Amino acid sequence: MIKTIDDILNNREVITYLGYADHIFEMVGYKEHGIRHAKHASDRAGYVLKELGYTVKQQNLARIAGYLHDVGNMISRTGHAQSGAVMALDLLRAEGKNIKYTSDIFEVFGAIGSHEDKSMQPPTDIAAAVILGDKTDVHFERLRTENQYLKDAHSKVVGACENSEIQISREDKEITLQLAINTKICSIMEYFEIFTPRMNYCTKACNKLGCNFNFYINGDKFI
Ligand SMILES: [Fe+2]
Ligand SMILES: [Fe+2]
Repeated sequence: MIKTIDDILNNREVITYLGYADHIFEMVGYKEHGIRHAKHASDRAGYVLKELGYTVKQQNLARIAGYLHDVGNMISRTGHAQSGAVMALDLLRAEGKNIKYTSDIFEVFGAIGSHEDKSMQPPTDIAAAVILGDKTDVHFERLRTENQYLKDAHSKVVGACENSEIQISREDKEITLQLAINTKICSIMEYFEIFTPRMNYCTKACNKLGCNFNFYINGDKFI
C-alpha cells in the first residue's frame, strides 16, 4: 500500500538521513539541502499538480518523491539521484511478506532517480513536478553564513535571490516563475551564466505537464 506524505514526513529514518546529509554539506560549506529543501520541493511539486487538476493520489506521489528526492546525499553528492531512488525503494517498502510494488510507486523511484538528468525530458508528470519543486528553490536562506555568497558564482546567485514564487494557470496552461534578485549581489547576466541549464530544465518540465514556462526576474520577462 502506498504511504501518505504524512507517513514520510514523520519517518525517523528519513529525518535522520536528511539531517545527516545536510550536516555533511554544512561542514564542506555547501548550501542547505535538509528538511527545509525537502519540504519545499515536496510542497511545490504537490501544488503544481493540484493546480493543474491532477488526482489527490498523483499529488501524494509527487509530494513523496519531492520530499525524498535528495535523500541520496546521505551517501554522496555524486550519483545522489540514483542512490536516493534505491534508498526510497526500501523506505517505501510496505511491511510484511510477499510485497509487490505497484506501477504507481515506480513513478516515485523514477522521479527521484532522474531529477538531475538535465539533458533529458522528464519521464513522467510526477518527475516533472519534482523538477519544478527542486529547481525553483533558489533563496538566500539556503546559504550558511552571511558572506557565503562571496564564495563562488553559484553561491552568488543563491545569495542574491530574495523571493521565488510560482503561479499556475490551468486554463491558459501556463506555469510562471517569478524571482526577486538583488542585482547589487548578482547581475542578470551572472544569473543566466550559472542557471541557464536549470531554466531549460524547468521549461522541459513545464512542457511535460502540457504547459508553457514563463520566467520573470524583478518583473521583467526573460522566457
Ligand atoms: Fe538533487
Ligand atoms: Fe534538491
